[in-house]
Order: sequence, then structure tokens, then C-alpha cells
Amino acid sequence: MYLTISKRFEFSASHRYYVPSWDEEANRTFFARRTGGPHGYGNNFTLFAVFHGDIDRDDGMVINVTTIKQRVNEILADRYDHKFLNADSPPFNEIPPTPENIAAVLMRDLTRAFDGERATPVVCHVMESPETGATAYADGMIERHYWLEFSAARKTMSPHLSDEGNRNLFGPAFGLHGHGYRLRVTLRGEVDGTYGLIRPPHDTDMYLGAIPKELDHRYLNDEVAGMKDRPMTTECLAQYIFEQLEPRLPVNRVRLHENSYFFAEYHAGRKSCLGVESRFHAAHRLHSPALDDATNREVYGKCNNPAGHGHLYRLETTIGGELDERSGTLYPLDRAIGSIDDVLQRWDYKHLDEDTQDFTDRPSTAENMIVALWPRLQSALDNRVVRARLWETPNNRFTLRADRS
Ligand code: NI
Repeated sequence: MYLTISKRFEFSASHRYYVPSWDEEANRTFFARRTGGPHGYGNNFTLFAVFHGDIDRDDGMVINVTTIKQRVNEILADRYDHKFLNADSPPFNEIPPTPENIAAVLMRDLTRAFDGERATPVVCHVMESPETGATAYADGMIERHYWLEFSAARKTMSPHLSDEGNRNLFGPAFGLHGHGYRLRVTLRGEVDGTYGLIRPPHDTDMYLGAIPKELDHRYLNDEVAGMKDRPMTTECLAQYIFEQLEPRLPVNRVRLHENSYFFAEYHAGRKSCLGVESRFHAAHRLHSPALDDATNREVYGKCNNPAGHGHLYRLETTIGGELDERSGTLYPLDRAIGSIDDVLQRWDYKHLDEDTQDFTDRPSTAENMIVALWPRLQSALDNRVVRARLWETPNNRFTLRADRS
């Protein structure tokens, strides 16, 4: 199993996609409006800094979030926040501050800042805007993400099942209904050393733009020729979108959100998974029986408040395995939602330390919580959980994976 902790940050900066060895005209032709003018334009960036390490037996943490906050905020204040990146923040005077390059450089900054620390920075995810961002991994791999939206009507059904079979499996979704879909497309590949992107803007604009052009405001069962003989499920729709993009772009995976609590993902290598989001309300107090009172206060700060505090936790459970060709589903959605809710029942509207037996010998840190949840989720979901993510707040996320990939 592989545990990571992700901390969210924001910074605001001006920048422009600009290759110094090209003249203004060449930059404008290649980058179009993303090259802006000589003084750049602005974005509110979001950074997710992700760390991997072992849980300390005494304090129950991989690394103290306060340490992450201090170190990363120093980097951001020094080099990124309220700067004109092309002028103020080398090497962006020489390479264009594209999402790919910003993620890669920030990854190097993090690696330097956390040298010798308890946890190692492993991933640096930068959103340039809600529509696009990039991820840099410690091993040098880079990904670029694009978010798209479309609205469409459909009947969830498989042509391989009878009407009765469809009604039994899909329930009310077998009737005509609609969704506002959110689609994330992830490209993986070499970043061009000159223009700093995995693919030139005119390619991504054209090929990604073709997806909503085909699907937006359509009745999917009737108007999308390529889906006619396939089950109309979110799993199959994600696969279809992947197959449209694969010959044209180095797409690694697509994730299709049907609504806020359900998505299906299709990966290169023909792997599918689906994610379910659940929520629970819990109170707790971080206090380790292995530490004295003064050390507890020092380590946990305000989270050590004797009267306790609480969170609305979000849990995202990702289920993997084989797609059932006949029904076009990976796992019955209603069953997954129900099984996860059963697991969370014992914590929902409770005080984790006082009302449950799960944290009598260890602090109720999010790290210990996700480790406690894992075997219960596995047994509730036929050992098909590949990833579980726990958000303690929108800023702090803890992820456990069956394996590293
Ligand atoms: Ni807390």
C-alpha cells in the first residue's frame, strides 16, 4: 500500500507563454492569445504538493502539515506569488511558464526544500485555471490536464440486455434523463524543450474541441453513431471518448464526472475504474497516548483542543477491475454507494475518539483514519478498491493506494 498526503495552496501571478528566441510575431502565431502582451496576463494558480512517507507510530502522521505549510509558503512568497513569472522567477526568463514547466520547476523547488525531512515530495500538481493544469512527478514524468464540459441526454442501458434486464440493473436511469458532464483529459509525454508543452496549442484546441462538438446537447443513444451498438453507461462513454482522442493525442486517461459524487475513468492499457464520493460528519481531538501533554500541544497545536473539534470529511473510493462487457458496467453503482455508506455509518455523527473503539490506542489523524477504513472498504467492495482518498478539509487530502501506480 502507498500513502500520500496532499496540501493545497494558492498563488496569483502574471505570466505569458513566450519563447525568448522567437520574435513577438512567431510567439503570437504559435501560442495565440496565451502569449498575451509584453507585460503578461494573470492567473490564480492552485498548487497541490504531495508527500509520501511512513506513519510515525507516536504522532500518527506522515509529516506535520504545519511543516509543509511553512516551507511551501516560503517558496511561493519568494518566487511565485504576486510575481511576473517571466521577469521575476528564473528559469522562466528562459523557458515559457506553461503549466508543464511551472509544475516541473516547482517539483524541483519542493525537492530541495524538503531534503532530509520525514516525508518526500513525490508529486506537484499545478492548476493554471479551472480548465487546465499539469502534474510533475519526482521521477521526471509530466502530465497535462484539460477540463471540458458538455450537457447531454441519455438512457442508461445495454443493447445486450432485455428491457426488463435494463430496468432491473439501471432502475430510474433506464428512463430518459440528462447530466452536465465534466470531462478531464490527461496527456502524458515529453515536454518540448523550446515551447514547454506536451502538445502545441492548435493541436489540443482542435482535437479536444471535437469532443463537446460531438456530444454537447445531444441525445447520446440516438445521435452518436459510435455509441449505437455499445452499452450507454458512463464507463463506456469514457472509453468511447478515450478512443476518439487516442489516435490524435498522447492521452493517458480520461475521467468523466456524471455528477458530483460519481465518475468513471478509462486508462491507456484498457483499464477502467469508477469513483464514488461519500461524506460523513465527525468530531475528534488529536491527542497521542504515546506523548505527554506538553508535546501533544506542541505537535498538534489547535487540533489538540481538549474539548475537541470536527470536520465534514469527504471520502472518494475508487473501484477497479474488469468491465462487464454485457452490461457495460464495472460495478453496480447503487451497491457501491450503499456498501460505502454502511462502512461510514460507525463514524457518521460521532466523536471518533469518544464514541468509537477505533482510536483508543492511536490518535485519530487522517492517516490513521484512512488506514482503518481500508480493510473495511475492501471487504465491503469485494477487494476491488484501488484507491481511497480522505479530505479532512478542502486543503488537506490523504490517499491510500493498493499499489504505487
Ligand atoms: Ni481535525
